[in-house]
Amino acid sequence: MKALCWHGKQDIRCDEVPDPKIEHPRDAIVKVTSCAICGSDLHLYDGFMPGMESGDIMGHEFMGEVVEVGSENKKLKVGDRVVVPFTICCGECDQCRRGYFSVCERSNRNKSVGDKVFGHTTAGLFGYTHLTGGYAGGQAEYVRVPYADVAPVKVPSNLTDEQVLFLGDIFPTGWQAVVQCDIEPTDTVAIWGCGPVGQFCIRSAVMLGARQVIAIDRVPERLAMARAGGATTIDFETESVVERLNDLTGGKGPEKCIDAVGLEAHATATLDSMYDRAKQAVMLETDRPHVLREMMYVCRPAGVLSVPGVYGGVLDKIPFGMAMNKSLTIRTGQTHVNRWTDDLLKRIEEGQIDPTFVITHRASLADGPELYKTFRDKHDGCVKVVLQP
Ligand SMILES: NC(=O)c1ccc[n+]([C@@H]2O[C@H](COP(=O)([O-])OP(=O)(O)OC[C@H]3O[C@@H](n4cnc5c(N)ncnc54)[C@H](O)[C@@H]3O)[C@@H](O)[C@H]2O)c1
Ligand SMILES: [Zn+2]
Ligand SMILES: [Zn+2]
Repeated sequence: MKALCWHGKQDIRCDEVPDPKIEHPRDAIVKVTSCAICGSDLHLYDGFMPGMESGDIMGHEFMGEVVEVGSENKKLKVGDRVVVPFTICCGECDQCRRGYFSVCERSNRNKSVGDKVFGHTTAGLFGYTHLTGGYAGGQAEYVRVPYADVAPVKVPSNLTDEQVLFLGDIFPTGWQAVVQCDIEPTDTVAIWGCGPVGQFCIRSAVMLGARQVIAIDRVPERLAMARAGGATTIDFETESVVERLNDLTGGKGPEKCIDAVGLEAHATATLDSMYDRAKQAVMLETDRPHVLREMMYVCRPAGVLSVPGVYGGVLDKIPFGMAMNKSLTIRTGQTHVNRWTDDLLKRIEEGQIDPTFVITHRASLADGPELYKTFRDKHDGCVKVVLQP
């Protein structure tokens, strides 16, 4: 079959690879009908995430048709149409039973590495580093789904692929980021990053009743999409984010701040960002946490910082004393996807939201390598890429 494979920094190729097989009786094989490129894929593409190996199959946002099921799988049958959440979960461990699916204790088949690096393992993830199991991803014609009797979400035939595809990642990710903020009707929510995740944060914050939603980025078409979703926007390249946020909140700062940017933050020649770039270049720092620092500084005391943006390793010069003295709550995590999928699928069916608004590019798997670059560089108005194998 054909699949998009990682071969090193900025080197993704559409390769011919062996078809996946059932390896465990709970598995299923899914024929992928649609998959997407996620901002998290860019951290692998740009070489910031350790634990990748040449030939790894990329992709963790995908859906398709079940073409084979293992003998113990009682949930799925051949022909079912499913969206597959990016977090692999067993459904039975202590964490899964509490709904903390992204930290499933059993699904990371490289658990010993996870335990060593993180103190305790996190869940297995599709198409991601070997720290999280090194499972083959879904930017492929077929994919093996482990524990396929737990996470896959069956979707009704009257909804198109594009309407439901993002239930596997960015829609629940934006939603969880806002739910973690415990929105009050009087709240201002400020969202850094108007990429696909930021866009779903904006729409979720509006749906969950925030009084004011403010979105920050510098890419004009992403800012325009944010405004169409109900946000007031700030261009961090031409405006002072801190001044504008204070102006828009009567000088008090936003109560809720969301980092939908993560470890590859850009900033306009601030002292802290030049420091990050220099340290990252000589491998003394893994991440560029400019947004985290800015959120800690501008957030209203007793506010919440919600961090769906991905960080990889060690962060420098985080003003933790500021966060502590201001009584800030910090909430973060890979998304516990299945915690939200029933509710969000219903909202799509009821027409409360049409997730297709974010799609700007549609192409075949063979065009994938080129589109990684287009998405990373935000060329050609690119916000979200959907590929059809
Ligand atoms: N927690 C999860 O489960 C989960 C799931 C999906 C994605 N993510 C992460 O969410 C983040 C965003 O993903 P995406 O798909 O939207 O990616 P993206 O790269 O398209 O979006 C990031 C956006 O941030 C903007 N940006 C950069 N520096 C900024 C700054 N200083 N201030 C404001 N905006 C800035 C960029 O211009 C870009 O539009 C990534 O880190 C991704 O790994 C996390
Ligand atoms: Zn993702
Ligand atoms: Zn589990």
